[in-house]
Amino acid sequence: MDVKTLAARKGEHNMKDYKEAYEKFDWESVKSQFSWSETGKVNIAHEAIDRHADNPDKKDQVALIYSAPDREEKHTFEDLKFSSNKFANVLKKYDVKKGDRVFLFMPRSPEFYAAFFGILKVGAIAGPLFEAFMEQAVRDRLEDSEATMLITTPELLERVPLEQLPHLKQVVLVGDHDKTSDTFIDYHKEMDEASKDFDIEWVDLEDGMLLHYTSGSTGKPKGVYHVHNAMLQHYQTAKWVLDLQEDDVYWCTADPGWVTGTSYGIFAPWLNGITNVIRGGRFTPDDWYSTLSNHNVSVWYSAPTAFRKLMGAGAETAQKHDLSSVRHILSVGEPLNPEVISWGMKAFDLRIHDTWWMTETGGMMICNYPAMDMRPGSMGKPFPGIEAAIVDNDGNELPANQMGNLALKKGWPSMMRAVWNNPGKYESYFLGDWYVSGDSAYQDEDGYFWFQGRLDDVINTSGERVGPFEVESKLIEHEAVAEAGVIGKPDPERGEIIKAFITLRDGYEESDELLEEIRQFVKTGLSAHAAPREIEIKDSIPKTRSGKIMRRLLKSWELGLPTGDTSTLEE
Ligand code: WTA
Repeated sequence: MDVKTLAARKGEHNMKDYKEAYEKFDWESVKSQFSWSETGKVNIAHEAIDRHADNPDKKDQVALIYSAPDREEKHTFEDLKFSSNKFANVLKKYDVKKGDRVFLFMPRSPEFYAAFFGILKVGAIAGPLFEAFMEQAVRDRLEDSEATMLITTPELLERVPLEQLPHLKQVVLVGDHDKTSDTFIDYHKEMDEASKDFDIEWVDLEDGMLLHYTSGSTGKPKGVYHVHNAMLQHYQTAKWVLDLQEDDVYWCTADPGWVTGTSYGIFAPWLNGITNVIRGGRFTPDDWYSTLSNHNVSVWYSAPTAFRKLMGAGAETAQKHDLSSVRHILSVGEPLNPEVISWGMKAFDLRIHDTWWMTETGGMMICNYPAMDMRPGSMGKPFPGIEAAIVDNDGNELPANQMGNLALKKGWPSMMRAVWNNPGKYESYFLGDWYVSGDSAYQDEDGYFWFQGRLDDVINTSGERVGPFEVESKLIEHEAVAEAGVIGKPDPERGEIIKAFITLRDGYEESDELLEEIRQFVKTGLSAHAAPREIEIKDSIPKTRSGKIMRRLLKSWELGLPTGDTSTLEE
């Protein structure tokens, strides 16, 4: 164990005392950490990259360690400044303007990060998509956002239905291709020709920067809209929760298609000038441990699903690697089970710190801090500057130990500012001054929050949020399926798996082949993580008289629970 690790474990953390921090902190004080243009404007790309590149002491520091099975590269802050400037020049050449939506549909790679910051530098709004998305998922998001430009690879282009996307004017291709039409822009050719100098577009804190599509229990995925102001929260949570210190090497395992992969895979470390490891490609438990040991990762942010996978690989796999550089581990996305916490103690001699937040909150909300006593199983306490409470359905605060809606007082810096093209949906999140999360929880008498479950039908499978409506809609597109109802079924490894109940159209008979074909249909049409692992055929799907699928009843059947109130059930 090196000196640094020991020092940090003895309590040399950025936050000295939680209570004091909570009482004294206000968000205004964070603003003084940023540089402001002469007009009083900012840009998160300047804060995350250029500010360090312009500092003689920092410009040559490695910002990005990129590690993939076939590619290993290091980029300094200055490298990232120049590559993103080049891409910003390419965007300008093709007339991309402030407020335009530019989407990224490509694997994690140095090109991704140059493009991402290039988009922010021209004041446009970036929309990162999971590379696992199939045609329908890609189309829904590009259609709703009316994106005018897409950056993708020739391989992934096959899943982009260009003819159905009238707003999409241009496609930047990263990689070899034989496209000749004016729609296509060659990434490498343009980058070779572009200048590395660029005058950044200074924007207001309230100007848009990011659209993350996420699922609810009804309707198609919605575009959660974030603004530059979020940087206040990314910056400060990185200090106090991730506890990032100057010579840390940080690794967040999340893909930028997920909010964790942008807020904490990109902004939080770089706003603080920290060396950031990005791992591309699919990987095995051995690869994960190697990434930690080869790059001397000291702070590691991941998810219970990943920890469970490593746990499943056994202690011998862990023992093959020197993991002594790791000094702080954090988790997000799903309940952190006690088995995982004890695995962390065994494999790393560290307690995994849970954090709770959502796409809509843009940054961490309820957390465990190195400076606070933890209660295993609890998500922790609100971040300083955040007011959290348990409220009833009318927005009244509930007393300690009573279960209810986990709610947050609106107005924190990284809060979503809109749901794209859908003001009604945005309004539906709020009860008076409270943002209502959709999670149920309780708070104990000492102020710790304890997660209980989702209150809506949203499914959390391996930490990924899946809306049942999206899966149901895809299922009934299959010629054999008449009706479908989709639920999350508890699963020890994945948290939940997707289970579909369907009825068959006349003329179709149940068979294993048919069920597998239907599964593949969702997998290749929507995405692998949205494909039901189990499909059960029923004679009918329970619906309310107004035609809504009663997923709650399906779930009770599945779990063998009492069915509760079924008075609205259709005959
Ligand atoms: C769940 C973005 C238990 C929760 C980070 C939330 C958690 C949803 C935790 C958000 C946690 C997140 N413990 N559950 N520490 N963190 N969740 O927007 O239900 O993809 O509402 O996550 O994940 O999912 P999202």
